[in-house]
Amino acid sequence: MKSRNKLLMRAMAGETLPVPPVWMMRQAGRYLPEYRATRARAGSFLDLCYNPELAAEVTLQPIRRYGFDAAILFADILLVPQALGADLKFVEGEGPRLSTITDAAGLAALKPVEDIHETLSPVYETVKRLAEELPAETALIGFAGAPWTVATYMIAGRGTPDQAPARRLMYGDPETFDALMDRITEATIAYLLRQIEAGAECVKIFDSWAGGLPGEMFEKYTILPAKRIVDAIRAAHPGVPVIGFPRGAGGNYAAYVAATGVECCALDTSVDPAWAAKEVQTRTCVQGNLDPLLMVIGGRALSDAAKRCVEGFSGGPHVFNLGHGITPDADPAHVDVMLKAIRG
Ligand code: CP3
Repeated sequence: MKSRNKLLMRAMAGETLPVPPVWMMRQAGRYLPEYRATRARAGSFLDLCYNPELAAEVTLQPIRRYGFDAAILFADILLVPQALGADLKFVEGEGPRLSTITDAAGLAALKPVEDIHETLSPVYETVKRLAEELPAETALIGFAGAPWTVATYMIAGRGTPDQAPARRLMYGDPETFDALMDRITEATIAYLLRQIEAGAECVKIFDSWAGGLPGEMFEKYTILPAKRIVDAIRAAHPGVPVIGFPRGAGGNYAAYVAATGVECCALDTSVDPAWAAKEVQTRTCVQGNLDPLLMVIGGRALSDAAKRCVEGFSGGPHVFNLGHGITPDADPAHVDVMLKAIRG
């Protein structure tokens, strides 16, 4: 099937569809027993990310089980810092740990952008396999972290509740901070272009910690880097849509969409569909935004909320999704409940 005829691509081209295309953030993950089995075979999470055969396999698992309209490449936003030279590991039950960048010397120790592909080439190989193996109607989404979100991990060396270490560098040593943001932005562009050349039909920029930026910094550190990425993709691959996800942006969602020109804006759970239908969906396709906790709860609470979400966004282009990733304690059977509520 031609890319532009796939449901996901049609929605992102601005079409209002009778039934929205659907996929889920973190659809390949620990809530699925087949994911856990493949991960055990791979060894560790990072071994899985860099094993094209097994990374393609876990990408395909939720497509086989549920028939989602899109597959998202199995990888992680922290592979880019690793490719730039950061030490990275995932500690079981705790999350990612990286070497930290706190000054100009830390920045100077990073590798140049041209060198990232050496580490990241297995990811491109995964994309290539997926482009060949996915069902004809399933769209393939590539992705990267947004510069601000990636910077928060590179500076703190871990996930932080308030991104304080990154904000501290932003205020205390803006020159180093801006140079780091620049390096990440350039690496992200190079990485996404390679994913597209390998077969990704669409790419998503995850700014998971956008809501942690002070409002006055939102334009400089969330909007402008996203715009640079969108512009670079458009210049090289004009037909490839971009999904932006400035999680927690609140009232800034509208400005984000207007200024970046993303073809689709992913909304987090906090966004009221009635507001977003007026302020965001009139400019672009929206994606979201069911509360992921409902995938743990199931039942009527889930099916009613899924139907309200479809209804709330029925007046314009919409891609059904959760407001954030599905969690390991979600019940795989609840995904069927959600799909039945959406597709009937
Ligand atoms: O299915 C998919 O969505 C595709 C693969 C994907 C993963 N991570 C796999 C993953 C994607 C798109 C991501 C994005 C990602 N990674 C983000 C942005 C989205 C978001 O959730 O806000 C962030 C912030 C990360 C960084 C990251 N990766 C953290 C903080 C953690 C630890 C927390 C956790 O959920 O375990 C990860 C690990 C991770 N990334 C897992 C998966 C399937 C779990 C690893 C495991 O198997 O133990």
